[in-house]
Amino acid sequence: MAIELVPLPLPASADASQLADFGREVKGVNPAEVSAEQFKEIEKALYKHGALLFRDAKVTPAQQYALTKAFDPQSESYGHGNNKTGETKKSILHPDLKTIPSVPQVQLIGNGTVYNHEGLAEAKLKHPSHTTFHKTRVSPEDEAKGVTRFYRWHIDAALYELNPPKVTTLYGLTIPHGARQVARYDDGTGDVLDVPLGTTAFVSGKVMFEILPPELKSLAVRARVRYAPHPYVWMAPAHALPTGLGIEVEGLELPLEELPPWEEGKVKTFPVLWKNPGTGDLHFEVHPCGAMELLVDPLPAGANREGALFPDGAHLTDLKEVRGLLYKMQRPGIAPSLIYPHDWHENDFVLFHNRGLLHTVVGAFKPEEVRAFHQCNLAASDEPQGPSAEDVKAYA
Ligand SMILES: [Fe+2]
Repeated sequence: MAIELVPLPLPASADASQLADFGREVKGVNPAEVSAEQFKEIEKALYKHGALLFRDAKVTPAQQYALTKAFDPQSESYGHGNNKTGETKKSILHPDLKTIPSVPQVQLIGNGTVYNHEGLAEAKLKHPSHTTFHKTRVSPEDEAKGVTRFYRWHIDAALYELNPPKVTTLYGLTIPHGARQVARYDDGTGDVLDVPLGTTAFVSGKVMFEILPPELKSLAVRARVRYAPHPYVWMAPAHALPTGLGIEVEGLELPLEELPPWEEGKVKTFPVLWKNPGTGDLHFEVHPCGAMELLVDPLPAGANREGALFPDGAHLTDLKEVRGLLYKMQRPGIAPSLIYPHDWHENDFVLFHNRGLLHTVVGAFKPEEVRAFHQCNLAASDEPQGPSAEDVKAYA
């Protein structure tokens, strides 16, 4: 049976013209047993639509790992490495993950206490909360009324030593069905988004790029980001912006000499725009929290210099300037109308193109609201591809 692709229901807040291509429900395929022929169709659909949903899925951790690995057969270890102990203990990611013993590439994430789960006698899970990461927080009174925030817009990636996974799979096993919440941006714009409790919010990196004015497209197509060594340890003492789209400039990052041992050769520098291997489109893919420096190439010969930013190129190392420029380029892409907030149901299996979008945890659960998900992504066998010489010519 051929696979069938059905558009995902968009919320009333969404700009349907911008999100028309984003996301599809896949029918007629069991994600636990995908034939070679079906895989080809799924891969093509994924790169075109960014996220695929399989409803009522029954998938074991081993099957989830197998499907995730099929997108990059040479990949092997979990996206952040299989052993998150020792030197990365101080990482802000550490408390969020519990490894499934039989398949260490699959993580148990969620909220509350889960018992006798895939060889884990008791797993205490905690849904990440903006109150422990953002510089400011929603008042407890407003929180009680259902006001919340986007936790941290990100790409699933270690951003040091390991390459960003091509895909992530998220499998919702236990889903609390509480009242909807309102994600507030709290950045002076008045922007808010009505969301299902515990939604995962997605934005397209392609749209994030395409809506930029020409001078910012020119900057994006010429720019690369150098990430901090051990970025999640580096940023651990720092606080995020109220939108969850980067870090406040307060000078709180751990000094490089206080980080666990690191090597220059393992520091990651990636293009700002990543070329979609299926469509050739350019996606704005920057993890703003981990970004430390921006390297901008000069305009190519013959390009119009009028109004161009950094026409002769630049190496920006001032965090205030780096973060300011990235925010200016990324904030338009997380406007309420550009967000797809997934409304999780039990046994939803979501496969997303981790190199083509940004996503974030949203909202807050009560301790007794138990949520259990299996998440898998694998450090890729290659680095993301940047813009081609033709792309640079077209946008610079
Ligand atoms: Fe993630």
